Amino acid sequence: MVIDPEMTLGRLVAEHPQCARLLEELHLDFCCGGEQTLAAAASARGLDGATVALACEAFARIPQGADQEGERDWLSAGIPELCDHIVECHHERVRRERPRIEELLATVVRVHGAKQPELALLQDTFRSMAAGLERHMAREEQQLFPACRGAAAGAGVDEQLLALHAGEHEQVGAQLGELRALGGGYNREGALCSTHRSLLGALERFEADLHRHIHEENNILFPRVRALGAAGAAAQAPRA
Ligand SMILES: [Fe+2]
Ligand SMILES: [Fe+2]
Repeated sequence: MVIDPEMTLGRLVAEHPQCARLLEELHLDFCCGGEQTLAAAASARGLDGATVALACEAFARIPQGADQEGERDWLSAGIPELCDHIVECHHERVRRERPRIEELLATVVRVHGAKQPELALLQDTFRSMAAGLERHMAREEQQLFPACRGAAAGAGVDEQLLALHAGEHEQVGAQLGELRALGGGYNREGALCSTHRSLLGALERFEADLHRHIHEENNILFPRVRALGAAGAAAQAPRA
């Protein structure tokens, strides 16, 4: 197997989900930045694309599914199955983790907020992102995913609906970057207390899951639904 440094990050993780963890560690954005090539993304972070591609090959050899459910090959799954997985795995995780993180934030702001004003900013940014995400996920479940299931059944696709959601993913990606900056890169060595350490760990896991969640929508679900729409339009076009 040879991984080409000119491959896009979205395609790389769609074909080799085991590489997601390595790209997370290197802070190479494969979800909203999934259109970038591996070489360009690596170079923007001062890394050598060929070396990162070699490391990706080692990760890609790990058998799929050996580690976590998120590393399954979703390229070969049915669209309804992929929609179910996104809701049951990723949407549920956001809904389950949000109250826990809000509780940790409230404690940390109460105890350390007077001396560390950026903690209140971290709390506000998380609240604002979480509220937007709840609305976004509800619209996906009520409108977008039923439309994707319809596209799988030959009903065509509303490009504006896909573009609206992709635009919201960009916003979430930017908010995740703000949260990471406000959280000091989630470096637990500088944690103020055990609750703050738990908070930083919870935020980092929340970020990693959201990256996979957005990747599965932007780089796997949307292109597949668009391809179905294009195939349907070609089938219906009048023959010359
Ligand atoms: Fe989603
Ligand atoms: Fe989404």
